[in-house]
Amino acid sequence: MNILILGGGGREHSLAWAIKQNPKCDRLIVAPGNAGIAKIAECADFDVISGTAVLEFVQEQAIDFVIIGPEAPLAAGVADQLRDAGILVFGPSKAAAELEASKAFTKAICDAASAPTAAYGHFTDAEAAKAYVQTQGAPIVVKADGLAAGKGVIIAETVDQAVAAIDDMFDGSFGEAGAEVVIEEFMTGEEASYFILCDGENVLPIGTAQDHKRVGDGDTGPNTGGMGAYSPAPVLTDAIAQKAIDEIIRPTMAEMVRRGTAYQGILYAGLMIENGQPRLVEYNVRFGDPECQVLMMRLGAQVLDLLVAASEGRLNDVKPNWADDHAVTVVLAAKGYPDAYEKGTVIGGLGALQSDSMNMVFHAGTAERDGMIVANGGRVLNVTARGDSLAEAQQRAYAMVDKIDWADGFCRRDIGWRALG
Ligand code: AMP
Ligand code: GLY
Repeated sequence: MNILILGGGGREHSLAWAIKQNPKCDRLIVAPGNAGIAKIAECADFDVISGTAVLEFVQEQAIDFVIIGPEAPLAAGVADQLRDAGILVFGPSKAAAELEASKAFTKAICDAASAPTAAYGHFTDAEAAKAYVQTQGAPIVVKADGLAAGKGVIIAETVDQAVAAIDDMFDGSFGEAGAEVVIEEFMTGEEASYFILCDGENVLPIGTAQDHKRVGDGDTGPNTGGMGAYSPAPVLTDAIAQKAIDEIIRPTMAEMVRRGTAYQGILYAGLMIENGQPRLVEYNVRFGDPECQVLMMRLGAQVLDLLVAASEGRLNDVKPNWADDHAVTVVLAAKGYPDAYEKGTVIGGLGALQSDSMNMVFHAGTAERDGMIVANGGRVLNVTARGDSLAEAQQRAYAMVDKIDWADGFCRRDIGWRALG
């Protein structure tokens, strides 16, 4: 099978790493890829947001299967254009990708499906939004409706902060994404991520994880794309996970079918758990980054069979094989991230690290320059390890981190703390 993965972060490196180990994979191409991916796959450079460009490449290179990593090509309808041309593709249609691209859409789906989630209002003008905040009080959550690269959510501690956030959004600080605003009840509890393969009809959970969004130890400082993750997330017990499937995931899928926009791909459900009850925070229509890295570490080569089955509508024929183990990934970021940071600083010590089914350094934002690996983004490396326990996986991951020679980088030292108690 000739396989093309769209994307070029740590998520796509981990997908490529797992898929490459499956004997069914003949040729593996990643676009655009990065310096780490280039060591295990071919990298190609074309516009991955353009369905026409992707289709042209696929036909030229006789690609049999396309896996779409990030949300942007999905929201742009790349999956639709490939599917219309008869190409096997993993990832939802543009219409189904609205589950991530529009928060108001997801709330309406939850209403129709009676799925537990935060109470909310949906607004297209600032005055009505402010009036709603006045009646609800604070804390309250103000969200730009559209894709805002993870930045469109403001947790307002006071009514004044909420009002300022509303003005900001309608004044265009989030561009088109803020033309509509969703205001939500502030939910308390513990967050976890649940990853479910969907083939339009059937659902197959493939793991749980917990991300660490804040930049600093002890969950302090500004929000980031994610500074580390571990899997499984013990807060998502079997009973709570089943509740999430029965009360949130299946009803969502049924509603998507009813609307004629069946969902196929990975559904990433962000859940808030309190008193044994999961509530939906948000959906993403792609794997989490860095959550994907810990899932791939645990699933390995079988992931190709699972993704193909989801794309062919055969999820009922397959079953993930779980080792009873744990994985941790620690994000190494460029100093300054999530604010301004430098690119091009040299990273040493990578060559001496173990690279096997228990220990892997996935590349997120790297490039190669004169034979050296250099930083080329904010989140740069995902140092990932497995273990029989979370503590063992964590200890292995940090042992690798400590062998990396990069004075211009930093990481959190407490990935996994919630579960380690
Ligand atoms: P989202 O982009 O919707 O995932 O929001 C980003 C983060 O904001 C989530 O991971 C939560 O930590 C937080 N958040 C979003 N909505 C709520 C809510 N209704 N109540 C509490 N926290 C929330
Ligand atoms: N790590 C959070 C995300 O991928 O959205």
